Amino acid sequence: MENRQQWGTRAGFILAAAGSAIGLGNIWRFPAVAYENGGGAFFLPYLFALLTAGIPILVLEFTIGHKYRGSAPLSFLRINKKAEWIGWWQVLISFVISTYYAVIIAWAMSYTVFSFNLKWGSDTEKFLFGNYLKLAETPGQFGGIVPGVFIPLILVWAVTLIVLFNGVKKGIETANKIFLPTLVVLFLIIVIRAVTLDGAATGLNTFFKPNWDRIMDGKVWIAAYSQIFFSLSIAFAIMITYSSYLPKKSDLTNNAFITGFANSSFELLAGIGVFSVLGFLAQQQGKTVEEVVSGGVGLAFVVFPQIINEFPAFNQFFGVLFFLSLTLAGLTSLISISETYVAGIQEKFGVSRHKAVAIGGGLAAILSILFASKGGLYFLDTVDYFINTFGVALAGLVEVIFIAWIVRELNHLQTHANAISDIMLGAWWKICLSVITPLVLGYMMFDNIRTNIA
Ligand code: PHE
Repeated sequence: MENRQQWGTRAGFILAAAGSAIGLGNIWRFPAVAYENGGGAFFLPYLFALLTAGIPILVLEFTIGHKYRGSAPLSFLRINKKAEWIGWWQVLISFVISTYYAVIIAWAMSYTVFSFNLKWGSDTEKFLFGNYLKLAETPGQFGGIVPGVFIPLILVWAVTLIVLFNGVKKGIETANKIFLPTLVVLFLIIVIRAVTLDGAATGLNTFFKPNWDRIMDGKVWIAAYSQIFFSLSIAFAIMITYSSYLPKKSDLTNNAFITGFANSSFELLAGIGVFSVLGFLAQQQGKTVEEVVSGGVGLAFVVFPQIINEFPAFNQFFGVLFFLSLTLAGLTSLISISETYVAGIQEKFGVSRHKAVAIGGGLAAILSILFASKGGLYFLDTVDYFINTFGVALAGLVEVIFIAWIVRELNHLQTHANAISDIMLGAWWKICLSVITPLVLGYMMFDNIRTNIA
């Protein structure tokens, strides 16, 4: 325990935590979720979720990792002998996510290369599903491996495993210090160009127009909390693991605020960029913004290539910028999810980091090949659906109920954080964690079950 690895600098830790949080979810999930859930009016539930759940849980996880100095399973074990499984459960969710998250990064990598000659042509949908993913060749079942996905996938895993092999400071910290600032610069260039395109204003109006009627809709609040959980990578074992490498003297609370606000700022930036270019595309195609809005895979790999085709100049350049941004945003998140099981295996079985990377990362890499097969996309959708519907909210709920009500650790953790932080945690922190978050997550679970059974 004494020679536990450590971050080299405070900025290194913050960049790594922000690198985990800033991912595909910020770029393709947030803009669409905000638009569908009230546009400008969504910011109210979103801010509420950030302040009552996102940042408080981030502080909680930073403090757990820092105080108990272990990966998620070991930290929970140290809190209570019977609680190790809570950590493993979060690790398992992360493991599953890593297997398909890697595949999407591989697509982004391919598309970075396709940008050089706008290889997707004019029918970008047909290109994605037909030419690239070869979905139609074996509809609804597993076909052979698609080499165009398989090769970048190997690259994605190679980068990730090399980073993890090199450990916390030399590997994870260095990677984030390079990838995250690069991402921000590339993305800023895109956004600056985006807001100056014809039609951008219409797109932004559509995005920010508040639809206050929606504010009373429970679904909107659920969407806000889900976005915050996914986007901040909380209840995924990640933040506990990362903070377990912090030096003794670390300002936990302040770090959590910085991470939380950095993530939301990037999210907002992405919303502005995405809706500006959607407004531009709508104008080029003589459609309304509503008609061209989308999120997820469709936005990134069908709509964006169309937008890039339409760009007035430097199409290839902006294509490369966009898909390289996706790749970098994804890689820093993949590194963080994979570190959860590397650390977990290392501590549970007392093996070296290198062995843990080879076993855990190797297994995830092999399993992810399933999603690089001809019917892989169907499989990916199904797994993603189950993880998001039944995994994340439940893991978060169990975590807060356990800490706040079963072992009643909040006071100890508060003392621990306050002793080394600038911002003092007060009663509001405990109320958020013991009352507000459990109620909202409980309602979310209930609603999920109801809509899935009905
Ligand atoms: N926070 C990441 C994003 O916004 C996603 C993520 C979720 C990463 C869970 C790791 C674990 O894309």
